[in-house]
Amino acid sequence: MNQEISNQLKQNRDIQQNLKFLAENFSGKIVFSTSFGIEDQVITDAIFSQKLDAVEVFTLDTGRLFQETYATWDKTQIQYGQKIKAYYPDHQKLEKFIHENGINPFYESTNLRKQCCHIRKVEPLQRALNDVKVWITGVRAEHSPDRNALEILQWDEQYELYKYNPLLHWTTEEVKEYVAKKGVPYNILHDQGFVSIGCAPCTRALKIGEDFRAGRWWWEEASKKECGLHSS
Ligand code: ADX
Ligand code: SF4
Repeated sequence: MNQEISNQLKQNRDIQQNLKFLAENFSGKIVFSTSFGIEDQVITDAIFSQKLDAVEVFTLDTGRLFQETYATWDKTQIQYGQKIKAYYPDHQKLEKFIHENGINPFYESTNLRKQCCHIRKVEPLQRALNDVKVWITGVRAEHSPDRNALEILQWDEQYELYKYNPLLHWTTEEVKEYVAKKGVPYNILHDQGFVSIGCAPCTRALKIGEDFRAGRWWWEEASKKECGLHSS
């Protein structure tokens, strides 16, 4: 990536301008992964409302998402008249895993939970990132203390691509303000105390005073709470 693009992405805070600049000036494959969380919806809006066809928007459908998340997906495609590509788990690996461990094995051990995340998210992600040169994500520093070490634009050794986290330093208020101002569709679970929304069996609403990550894999120790998408 040349210096001009990298400076633009690192120094400018206007998400619409940045994504347009990237889409128009970078020649390799660019993708954005959405989980339909409120920050992801900001990025989707910036891509779809400007019709940035050079950026492919995809989601990893684990098969265990909330009905409200599927509704957000549907609503987004209808509102913008554009499609979100879905990647699915390998059916043979999933069938074997369920046969051996049951349907809800993630509550039994961190090891089984990570195996489930690997089959349902990480392996499909690896396929989605094949040949990709820039991977845009909706990661925000507020969501997890580990993420303070991240940068807006960084080289990802594991996938050998540039990872662009345009909302890394956005606050929740800024995200909500963008969504309200532009009429962006969002997951109604955010109005019911859910902050970071993943799979239904592994996500709950926050109680008052809890940190942002407390609603994910709440039965596990805080230090183990990553699914392998953004750390291995
Ligand atoms: S996770 O690692 O804990 O699952 P988190 O929910 O915080 O991730 O989301 C951070 C970013 O990871 C999202 O903004 C999105 O770019 C990506 N992401 C997470 N889950 C998915 C998913 N199911 N499909 C596509 N992208 C996802
Ligand atoms: Fe499986 Fe839960 Fe991970 Fe989803 S979040 S892939 S259901 S362990």
